[in-house]
Amino acid sequence: MLQTCSSESPGVLRAQLQKTFLDPDELSDPIGRLVAEHYRAHVLCRALYELADAPCHPGYETTAYAVRHYLAHELPIHIADELEDLMPLLQRRRPTDLELDEIYVYLSQRHQEDAALAEELIPDLSRLASGGMPRVPLRFVVNLRSLARTMLKHLSWENSVVLPLARQHLTRKDLATLDLRMVARHEAA
Ligand SMILES: [Fe+2]
Ligand SMILES: [Fe+2]
Repeated sequence: MLQTCSSESPGVLRAQLQKTFLDPDELSDPIGRLVAEHYRAHVLCRALYELADAPCHPGYETTAYAVRHYLAHELPIHIADELEDLMPLLQRRRPTDLELDEIYVYLSQRHQEDAALAEELIPDLSRLASGGMPRVPLRFVVNLRSLARTMLKHLSWENSVVLPLARQHLTRKDLATLDLRMVARHEAA
């Protein structure tokens, strides 16, 4: 059974997660920014495991708040960057490549999986962030671990399959288009 406990100063993990991760060298490289977002998603997964292992560790409210913010506001943007901009540009560049259609379907399914788990977790993270308890603690912990597991699996697949294809096939003009769209989406959020 989870116990409520008081918060202490934020740790490195939470600081990393809260940081706006935009290295100036990567600002004009949209693929580099996606790589940077994947790094942040790895940090998020560590925070998910941290909460699952010890939901009431010192400073847990700050961790819960940072995780909630990422899931509610940043994950949907990253998913849209990939599904609405990156993949369509890649498919337009390689219209006869059937493997890309399969990649699109697989990516959509993984994103739906992540979004469904995130939606389930967000209300409990809000409760935890304000010092409360999850509705069903055991289910909360199971969902935290499930999201971390599925995200880590699909992040490594994107890094090893999707992003190398984008680097290989997108033209400079495609990359400029991708950059403009990603920046516009992030600014509008
Ligand atoms: Fe991604
Ligand atoms: Fe993704």
